[in-house]
Amino acid sequence: VTLRLGVIGCGRAAALAIGRAWPDAPEVTVTALASRDRERARAFAAAHRLDGARIAGVPEEVLGEDVDAVYLGLPGELHEAWTLRALAAGKSVLAEKPLALDAAAGARIALARARTELAVLEGVMIQHHPWAARIAALCAAAEGAHALRTTICFSIPEGRRTGRVLEDVAPYWLWLVSRSAPLDAAVVRAHRRGDDVEVTLEVGDRVTATLQASHARPYRATHVIEHARGALALPDLFRANLGPQRLAIDRDGVREWISGRSAFAHQLSAFATLCRGPARARAEALDASLARLRVVDAIRARWTPDPPADTMPP
Ligand SMILES: NC(=O)c1ccc[n+]([C@@H]2O[C@H](COP(=O)([O-])OP(=O)(O)OC[C@H]3O[C@@H](n4cnc5c(N)ncnc54)[C@H](OP(=O)(O)O)[C@@H]3O)[C@@H](O)[C@H]2O)c1
Repeated sequence: VTLRLGVIGCGRAAALAIGRAWPDAPEVTVTALASRDRERARAFAAAHRLDGARIAGVPEEVLGEDVDAVYLGLPGELHEAWTLRALAAGKSVLAEKPLALDAAAGARIALARARTELAVLEGVMIQHHPWAARIAALCAAAEGAHALRTTICFSIPEGRRTGRVLEDVAPYWLWLVSRSAPLDAAVVRAHRRGDDVEVTLEVGDRVTATLQASHARPYRATHVIEHARGALALPDLFRANLGPQRLAIDRDGVREWISGRSAFAHQLSAFATLCRGPARARAEALDASLARLRVVDAIRARWTPDPPADTMPP
C-alpha cells in the first residue's frame, strides 16, 4: 500500500520534489494537488503525468479522505501554519525547508506533532541519498579536530531573492555539520551583507564549521572536512537534484562514486518509511530540525555587517 500524498503549492520546489521525483518513488502515490489557481494545478498535473490526482482550487481541499500526508511546497513563512493545519486534520507533513522561520515556531510544530504521533519531515533531501550514509560513516571514522568549510551559492534572480539566505541554506549546512558533531554550537562570527553571509561556529569541543553562502553569486555547493589524518570533499551537494546521479566523495586524493536515484526520490521513499515506521524515528526527525533552528536563531542574534567580501567565492 502506498502513501497517498497531497501537494499544496505547485511552484518550483514542488516540480523538483514531487513532479520529477514521484516516478522513482514507488512508495508514494500523488492523489491530490492544490494551487490557489486551479488551472495551475491542472498544468502541474499535465506536466508531470499526474493524471489521476484530484485537483483542488484551495489548499484546504487537499486535506481529504484520499490523502494520508501532505507535501508543502509553500514559501517558508507559510510552513508553520500549514503544518499545524495538516496535523490537525490527521495528515503527516513533508515540508520544504526551512521547516519554520525560527525555533519558537519549530517548538509549536513539535508540540502539535507530539500530540498526534504523525510525521513532520523537513525537506533536506540530500540526507536521503545513499551518499549520506557513506559520508556519515567516513565522518564517524575521522579522528581529532575537524575544520568544516561549506560554500553554498545560488544565483537567484534579484526580483526573487527573499533576503533569507541563512535560513535558506542552513538546513543543508547544519545537516552536514551534524554528521561531524552534535549541534551544540557556539557562534564565533556571523557576518551578513546584502545577499551574502559568512558564519563560523564552534561545534562541540573539536569541530569548527564555516559557511559562506550567497543568493547573488554563481552556483557552487561544496563541503570540505579537514582533519588530522586527511581531508574529505563533497564537490557538488545538489548534483542529484534532477534525476539518478552518481555523487563524488573525494577522500585523501581518491575519488569514490556513490550511485542513487534523485535525492528527491529518495526523500519521498524515506518520508513514506518514516510515516509507517517506529514513532521514535518521527520524534528524532523533528528534533533534528529543531536543533538546526536553534542554531539559526543563535546566528541571527549575532549578525554584524560587512563580511570580508574578498574571501567569498567570486
Ligand atoms: N529543496 C529544494 O531544492 C528547494 C528548491 C527551491 C525552493 N525550495 C523551498 O521551497 C519553498 C517554496 O519555494 P519555491 O521556489 O517553490 O517558491 P514558488 O515557486 O514561489 O512556489 C511557492 C508556491 O506556494 C504557493 N503559495 C504562495 N503563496 C501562497 C499563499 N499565500 N497561500 C497558499 N499558497 C501560496 C504558490 O502556489 P500556487 O500559486 O500554485 O497557489 C507557489 O507556487 C521554499 O521554502 C524554498 O526554500 C526548496
